[in-house]
Amino acid sequence: MDLTTTYMGLKLKNPIIVGASPLTSTFESILELEKNGAAAVVLHSIFEEQINHEIGEIDHFLFKGSESYAESLGYFPEVVLSNLESDAYLDEIRRVKENLSIPVIASLNGVSKGGWIKYAKKLQEAGADALELNITYIPTDINTDARDVEQLYLDALQAVKENVTIPVAVKMNAYFSAPAQMAKRLSDTGADGLVLYDRPVHVDIDLENLNSVQVINKSSSKDLSETLRWSAILYNRLPLSLCASTGVHTHEDILKAMMSGADAVQMVSAILEHGHSYIATVLENLIAWMEEKEYISIEQMKGSISLAHTSNPAAYQRANYMRILTDYRF
Ligand SMILES: Cc1cc2nc3c(=O)[nH]c(=O)nc-3n(C[C@H](O)[C@H](O)[C@H](O)COP(=O)(O)O)c2cc1C
Repeated sequence: MDLTTTYMGLKLKNPIIVGASPLTSTFESILELEKNGAAAVVLHSIFEEQINHEIGEIDHFLFKGSESYAESLGYFPEVVLSNLESDAYLDEIRRVKENLSIPVIASLNGVSKGGWIKYAKKLQEAGADALELNITYIPTDINTDARDVEQLYLDALQAVKENVTIPVAVKMNAYFSAPAQMAKRLSDTGADGLVLYDRPVHVDIDLENLNSVQVINKSSSKDLSETLRWSAILYNRLPLSLCASTGVHTHEDILKAMMSGADAVQMVSAILEHGHSYIATVLENLIAWMEEKEYISIEQMKGSISLAHTSNPAAYQRANYMRILTDYRF
């Protein structure tokens, strides 16, 4: 059975990429993911705040009471230099690249056009095969225009692209007014891939402490809907790869994602729930299903039920929506 696929030019042995999460934050865990069949990993994110904080701290150390950069470097405590989170992240990439054969995608998470973007170049130099850019911006100001928010994403992408030659994916969220056009604008700005979608940290209210809190809710297969809709809509419309993320839990979810038009999938919650060996189980089930239905490759099914190819395009659009709601019986 040919499970190979290509994502942003990276040859993958199967469509399963393990997404940015604690699963990809230690060398031992990443090794285990590869052993169980993961085709690639997206490392846990390094955040703008971590990088900028360090840039700020270094500036503070180096320039406080000193006229000269070279001189002050001499005073810089070794222990602080070797413990920087951003340096540790680069070491992690080097170690994973030296010991594993699957592609490694670094994840850069930020929102401004600040100094952190230059760090993208270091990720490439450390050996990352690609970058995933997670731009999480919550536009809380009621005077902020939608176009300005979009521009912020495009500017960050453009700045990263100016610093690297490896492929760059943008992990999109589902909240743009016109997601298809935003996808096109990201593509025009140089995105090599789109990850559909990010699953942001959720907001809740703690009724005991009467306070707002942030929580991480793991997904289920029921959360796959928007991912399917937009891969189906975007399939073959833009010169970039699509990666289905959020709600991919079973081999059936992978099949649906590929048929809607994705080139690969990312899995996190399912592996957190069932353990690393679950990847091997999903791959076995995937092969069994494909054999039973007489498929010979993943390529064969890509986009076969995309908006352009489905016999029921209404499922992806507004058309049927009134009937579905009004026909519902309880
Ligand atoms: C505990 C946890 C930590 C995560 N950390 C990150 C992260 O560092 N960067 C990021 O871009 N996404 C992060 N995510 C989001 C996942 O990469 C993924 O997009 C999301 O969980 C949806 O995929 P799923 O339905 O397979 O869980 C995290 C998710 C979880 C559950």
